[in-house]
Amino acid sequence: MLPSEVKTLVDLIKKDPENEGLFKALFMLLENASDSKVIAEALSKIEPSDVYGEEERIKASELLEDANEEELAAKWGPVPVEEVIEQSDNVVSFKSNNAEEVPAEDKLQIQDRLGKDITFDEIGGLEHVKSQIRRKIIKPFNNPGLFKKFKRRAGGGVLMYGPPGCGKTMIAQAVANECNATFIEVKASDIWDKWQGVSERRVAECFAKARAQKPAVLFFDEVEALAMRRGVEDTRGVTNVVSTLLNEMNGFGDENEEILFLGATNVPWSIDSAFKRPGRFDRTIFVPPPDRIARSFILKLLLKDRPVADDLDTKIIVEKTSGFSGADLEALVDAAVDYAIDDSEDMDDIKPISNDYFKEAFQEVRSSTGEWLGLAKSYSEYSTHDGMYDDLKEFLKKHG
Ligand SMILES: Nc1ncnc2c1ncn2[C@@H]1O[C@H](COP(=O)(O)OP(=O)(O)OP(=O)(O)O)[C@@H](O)[C@H]1O
Ligand SMILES: [Mg+2]
Repeated sequence: MLPSEVKTLVDLIKKDPENEGLFKALFMLLENASDSKVIAEALSKIEPSDVYGEEERIKASELLEDANEEELAAKWGPVPVEEVIEQSDNVVSFKSNNAEEVPAEDKLQIQDRLGKDITFDEIGGLEHVKSQIRRKIIKPFNNPGLFKKFKRRAGGGVLMYGPPGCGKTMIAQAVANECNATFIEVKASDIWDKWQGVSERRVAECFAKARAQKPAVLFFDEVEALAMRRGVEDTRGVTNVVSTLLNEMNGFGDENEEILFLGATNVPWSIDSAFKRPGRFDRTIFVPPPDRIARSFILKLLLKDRPVADDLDTKIIVEKTSGFSGADLEALVDAAVDYAIDDSEDMDDIKPISNDYFKEAFQEVRSSTGEWLGLAKSYSEYSTHDGMYDDLKEFLKKHG
């Protein structure tokens, strides 16, 4: 069994293999792991050839050699010269290993506003979620006077959770645009660093920045990679980051007033329970798979400006995609589009996207939320956090 924080990072790396920060964080954990089996198990779950540069591979391979995992060490070792020549298009770098050098410059980048100008109008369906967000997030910031009058604090935290690809990040982007507050996004990959003390300092800097620009929303996407449950196997690096985050969320006096913490995760059960106490992520919002209206909306959006057959029946597609996430719908439309392109000869002979192409696409793309909902069901049944999974339980009762 992998320690929970190692497992969390391995899962995240599999999802986002090019994210160097995540690998750094994992590496830090593995370097300090007292049980060498953990190193082998974690690295056997990641495919080295897909992902990493020479430097990471060599470091991982050395770690495995120290752990007497010869076979796996060879797999992670440097790419053989013949393969390098073959892949010369992909430019394999041979940077020297500068591990002893102190980083010249801290690379923390915090985005004040997210790139995309998404508004609530672009989020289809999910009326219940939207109204909760308006009530719990937008209204307090847009009517600070009203809150003062009722002596209600406009701060604390809201954690959005739900299956992957169902709009959590998108909702946060909409919040950024609709709330009269500074919006600061914090990604785990911007925080983690192998140098002792650097990660904690970066966490503190995010809060300092938010306090200097109140009112502010501090958004932690994939928050499980920072707020991970502490376990027996923990290393100092992880514990320090987690406790810095906890302390900063507490704040001294009223320094966190008018700062809202917004978190998004698809593994709420991996988050340390200390984060669920008052003043931290004390409210939760379940972001479910898109309902009918949302699916119809997303489909329209995905098909907009594309050559579509007159008789394409989007109603049937909407009916057949119950449980599809937004990301699954995107994959479905992409597959149908690819079939249409295959059949189109040139600009003069374009085959529009038709029911038949969707029929073929349905053979390839399936709903991905079922597995998540199954897992979530068991966690919610055994959870001791009163109220945390209420929305989810209600959803499962209706759709289970
Ligand atoms: N209700 C919706 N309306 C419009 N688009 C949606 C909706 N739900 C999901 N999408 C689309 O689905 C895709 C995935 O959404 P997003 O990245 O926000 O999901 P997520 O919940 O953050 O996933 P993850 O947990 O994997 O980070 C995006 O392209 C988004 O535009
Ligand atoms: Mg996301």
